[in-house]
Order: sequence, then C-alpha cells, then structure tokens
Amino acid sequence: MKKIDPCTLVLFGASGNLSRVKLMPGLFRLDAAGRLPDHMAILSVGRGDVSREAWQADIKVMLDTKFKNGYDEAVFKRFMARNHYHANPPTDPDAFKKMQAKLADESVFPQNLAYFLSVRPTDFAPIVEQLSGVGLLDETNHWRRVLIEKPFGTDLPSAQALQASITKHLKESQIYRIDHYLGKSALQNIMLTRFANTMFEPIWNNQYIDHVQITNNETLGVGDRTEFYNNTGALRDMVQSHLLQTLALVAMEKPQDLSPESIRAEKVKLLQSIEPIPVDDLNKHVFRAQYAAGRVCVGDGHGENVHGYLDELASVGVTESVTETYAALKLFIDNPRWKGVPFYVRTAKRMHEGNTAISIRFKKAPMQLNDEQHQNWLMLNIQPRECIKMEIESKIPGLDIATRTLSIDSPQRQATDESIDSYESLLLNLMEGDPSLYLHISEVEAQWRLMDPIVKAWAADKSPVHQYIAGSRDPAESSVIFESEDQFWRYSIELNGDKHQS
Ligand code: BG6
Repeated sequence: MKKIDPCTLVLFGASGNLSRVKLMPGLFRLDAAGRLPDHMAILSVGRGDVSREAWQADIKVMLDTKFKNGYDEAVFKRFMARNHYHANPPTDPDAFKKMQAKLADESVFPQNLAYFLSVRPTDFAPIVEQLSGVGLLDETNHWRRVLIEKPFGTDLPSAQALQASITKHLKESQIYRIDHYLGKSALQNIMLTRFANTMFEPIWNNQYIDHVQITNNETLGVGDRTEFYNNTGALRDMVQSHLLQTLALVAMEKPQDLSPESIRAEKVKLLQSIEPIPVDDLNKHVFRAQYAAGRVCVGDGHGENVHGYLDELASVGVTESVTETYAALKLFIDNPRWKGVPFYVRTAKRMHEGNTAISIRFKKAPMQLNDEQHQNWLMLNIQPRECIKMEIESKIPGLDIATRTLSIDSPQRQATDESIDSYESLLLNLMEGDPSLYLHISEVEAQWRLMDPIVKAWAADKSPVHQYIAGSRDPAESSVIFESEDQFWRYSIELNGDKHQS
C-alpha cells in the first residue's frame, strides 16, 4: 500500500452525474477500505449556493442510491466529517479568491491539493487559469495536482491549444489526464498476462497472429447526452481514447520496468507507429452506422423497445445527422512485430449485447485435417465478465480422426477478490501521485492524429448513414473492412464455429 500525504480533494462539478454515481460512492468505498489518510478533506465545488449540511444530506442520497444494502455507520460519520462545500457561481468575480480564503484554513484543509475537474471541457482551461491566479497551483510548500476529465480536446489542434494554455500554469508532472479504462483491473491485466507469462511472448507477433479485434459494444443508447453525442460520435467518444489505449496495451513492447515513464514511453511508441488511415481509400478501412428503432436486452434479461438515433435527435429538434453510433476501423502497425496484421477496432451503442473484449485469432495450424478445422483464438474479456478464454482444436474421442473446438475459459475474478471501480483506483493514484494510469500529452496527441482525418472525412460526407436495428449485431456491410473473406466479427460467448452468418 502506497502512503498518501494528508491532502484535500477539490471536486469541481460535484453535483454532476459522474460525481453522484462514481466519485462520491467511490471515495466512500475507499474510506471504508481504510485507503484514505486520516487527514484528508473533500471540498465539493458547485455553482449553487448550498449549505454544508444540505450538501451532506445530498451525499447521503448518493450513497443510499448506490449502496442499497446499507453501509457502516461509523464510516459514514467519518466520511461526512471530511466533506465540505464551496459555492463558486460563475457570475462572482471573487469566487476563486473566496475559495482560496476557505482553503487557507489549515486546520480543516490539508494543503496538498488535488483538483478533480469533472466539468464541461470548455471550463478546463479557465479553471486552471483562475486557480493559478489566486496561487492555488503554487507547489512551493505542498503538491498541487489537476485531474482533467475526458475529452482532452476534440481534435489535435484543440488538444494542443488546451495543453498550451494549462502548461502556462502547470508542469507536466502536475497534470493527470484521465482515461477511465486504464483504471479497469481487467485492462491492467493485459500487460501482466503478456509479460508475466512465458507462453505468450513468442507467439505475440505477425508470424503467428492472423488478426486482433478490439471491441466495445453497449446495449445502451446515447441516453440524455444527445447533444454532446451528436457533436462527438463513436469515433471520438470511444475509439480515440479507450480503445486506442487498449490497443496500445495489447501491442506495445515490454516496458523496461513498471515505472510510469517506462510504460508511457512504450505506449507512445506504439501509438505513433500506427499507420494513418488512407483517406483516399477510406471505405476499405472504416465503416460507420447509426442505430434504428429496435429492441434491446435490458439488465434483467428482458427486452425493451427503443427509438432510433435519428428519432431521438428529432425529439430535441435536430432533423439530420451523420454522426455514427457504430464505428469499425482497420488499423495496421508499422513495426517488425506487427507488420501486416490487421487490428480491427469497433464500438457501438444499442447492440445485442454489452461486451468489451480483445479477441486474437491465430494463423492456420501446420496440420490441417479438413476445411472445418478452426483457427485458435485467445480472448481477453474485459467486461462484463473478466475472463481469459482460449480455443484450441482437440480430437473427438472415437475411431475417426476428427477435431472439435475446445474452449478453455477461466474467470479472472474470484468471489473473494476486491471489486474496485476504475474511478476508485484512479482517485487513489491521483492522491498517491502515481501517474502511470493517466495519459501523457504525447499519447493524447498521437490518438487525435489518427482520428482527425477520419472524423473530418465523415463529417464532410453527408450521404445517409447506414442504419442497423437496435439490438442487432454488427451490420453485415461492416465486413467490407476485413482483409480476407474468412474473417468475421467475434462475439463474447460463442465458439468460433458458431460464427455469425449475416
Ligand atoms: C465513456 C463514453 O467515456 O465511456 C460513454 O463517453 C461510454 O459513451 C462509456 O458509454 C463506457 O464506459 P464503460 O466503463 O461503461 O465501459
């Protein structure tokens, strides 16, 4: 367990959805697990003029909603005592001065300060500037760190502009750019599976691997984020960040050690060696679509009729859109290990199942008994089930020589294992001063550099976007990006042999 200095977590956007659903309950769980230092305070910052008591009552609502089976009263008391509120109305020119005055009370607020900016992206730079203006980023006697929520920019120029503006006030070591996927334990396991075992490294290359699929499918739609999503799309929302980071962990070289610098250096190298998608041949490399009305499976296994994406937009007055809710891409990595191996990356809302996985298909085996023989697959399933699954061919017992596919499937999680939300581990890392699970600016830049040309080309192409029925599988037309005819999309549970025939 790393030691955490006494500190104050200053939570901007504290009454927003992320804070209500993830951050406050996450901090409470860390407190219950004894992971918060005794001297640690939380100052929630919001626009509304709310008393400390009213804010604490609101936190209780958040906890009651999250922990339906109740919680420990002693921890609850301790947690409440940590919590304070500061009203920061945008109309008040002295708001930050007042915050500075409040935080100056050392008997309440330890002076190491971690700011969590869970606010609109347009507010990141102004908040940093104002904190700096009142001396709240000054590290002369104590550390000061700023966590910036996703997205860091909406394209390369805006990311660079944001970087330029915040580095007027912050050193790189003070900036924590979040990608919450890196806080997922199953994602952290990719590196360990690869490098803490002997059997994978020798076959982890273009000599043995046919292709890799990195998938994030959700049954959820865009919900009440219609406007944000319509300005963003699946490519920028999921691929630019979470899925390229996942790809980097799957494909990078072994870091020299486990220091943040070494891990980030290997990820940056890998991201920079992904070949740009040829915009003059876009249709063979990328595919986009939007969900139409249909029926999806909801949490309890029941079906629910849902509207199409364009209908949802129409209900808020938007009459046309080419924004994708489904995006599939083919990427190649220009290095000796991966030359020629396609990496298929796809993400979609309103699919038949919610699943995030890495599926790796190996090349044909040296001994082919018949045409039916399947190639080996290795699957690292990230969510909802954390498991490692391997498919191998095995003889069918009996007189004949024939094989069938055997699935070796091992859950990664045991009943007694800690279940930690990604925001909990990231909050802890922020307070510990460990940036290994946060993004370096070079990673963010490399990711935008890859996405920008596609985003631009898609935005310019106003022809109607392909529709898929909500609750269905990948549109058959998406297979246009496959390199060979025998490649197909993998799903979470079926065996290779049950491949989906569209
Ligand atoms: C967010 C995206 O970053 O990640 C959402 O903005 C998406 O659109 C979410 O639903 C997925 O995260 P998770 O942890 O539920 O897989």
